[in-house]
Amino acid sequence: MSYIASPTRYTEMKYRRCGNSGLLLPVLSLGLWHNFGDLDIRNTYQQLLFKAFDLGITHFDLANNYGPPPGSAETNFGQIINGGLKAYRDELVISTKAGYIMWDGPYGDWGSKKYMVASLDQSLRRMGLEYVDIFYHHRPDPITPLYETMGALDLLVRQGKALYVGISNYPAELAAEAISILRSLGTPCLIHQPKYSMFVRDPEDNLLATLATNGVGCIAFSPLAQGLLTDKYIKGIPEGSRATKAKFLKPEQIDEPKLNAIRALNKMALDRGDSLAQMAINWLLRDERVSSVLIGASGVGQIEEAAMGLKRPSLSLEELEKIDFILNSEDIDCSWW
Ligand SMILES: NC(=O)c1ccc[n+]([C@@H]2O[C@H](COP(=O)([O-])OP(=O)(O)OC[C@H]3O[C@@H](n4cnc5c(N)ncnc54)[C@H](OP(=O)(O)O)[C@@H]3O)[C@@H](O)[C@H]2O)c1
Repeated sequence: MSYIASPTRYTEMKYRRCGNSGLLLPVLSLGLWHNFGDLDIRNTYQQLLFKAFDLGITHFDLANNYGPPPGSAETNFGQIINGGLKAYRDELVISTKAGYIMWDGPYGDWGSKKYMVASLDQSLRRMGLEYVDIFYHHRPDPITPLYETMGALDLLVRQGKALYVGISNYPAELAAEAISILRSLGTPCLIHQPKYSMFVRDPEDNLLATLATNGVGCIAFSPLAQGLLTDKYIKGIPEGSRATKAKFLKPEQIDEPKLNAIRALNKMALDRGDSLAQMAINWLLRDERVSSVLIGASGVGQIEEAAMGLKRPSLSLEELEKIDFILNSEDIDCSWW
């Protein structure tokens, strides 16, 4: 697996400070939720990682349960990080998470200290790493006291197994509480990872303001609404697309209101010389409170397209209003995932 990173990898990518921390994140990060499991093709996902890094994408995001089967994305990533990418470990920000079901019995899910500590140990073993850069609690646990879950994150930093910690899918009020507990423990919350795209705008209600007030960064996941915010589904559902393969995007969810909005947004993007994917990413980056946009990709061309889009002119106020108008004209329901 011989790989030498491109010497120009830092010439084009932009980096934003993650909240009030010392850590800079690339405005584009790559997630390994899909396309890195045991059912996927090694050569393809290896090229995705190499291409991303060559374009200055220094941040790769995982979770204990990514696959399928769960855990396999970490194992496969580990083989590449300890192969072709080994020389570049100090140039990479690697994150993983725990919070969803991972193993049988009462200690393999949610947010107890027992689960969180064991899960990160397992993730480190699968990836063959001594530490991760960011460890997240993946979703709120309605039963475990928040103090216990945040205490586990603090402990793992003190043990040297994670450099920073974050939370994901926490609503604004609970996020504020978690941030406050972490601060009191002496391990500041680095980052929040919410679902945020043109189709899912909940973070705009209170979350982004809460994070900014507390100096916490924000990385937006599923920025293309799993591929809906591209031209992919305009003429039907192509074989091999996520909607034909994955359980969180089903053909019946690609309904007329969404397609109407997609068509109008696509036309607008083409008129300004962008692809819809590029416009959707730049729309998120219009807000400086968004530290990074966390894309997924099934092919190298998708990463290249996203990176090329960063060179496009920012959206004007008028264009932003037009996007709002298009989105508000349709009854878009993304509550299913
Ligand atoms: N914290 C959480 O709870 C949580 C939940 C979900 C995701 N995440 C994170 O966010 C990351 C990204 O999520 P996501 O994969 O849903 O992101 P996304 O960027 O919204 O969707 C990526 C998918 O869209 C399609 N696509 C991308 N670029 C395209 C283009 N130019 N033209 C046509 N289709 C294109 C591809 O699917 P095809 O296979 O159809 O080509 C690609 O796999 C995940 O990997 C994970 O790290 C976190």
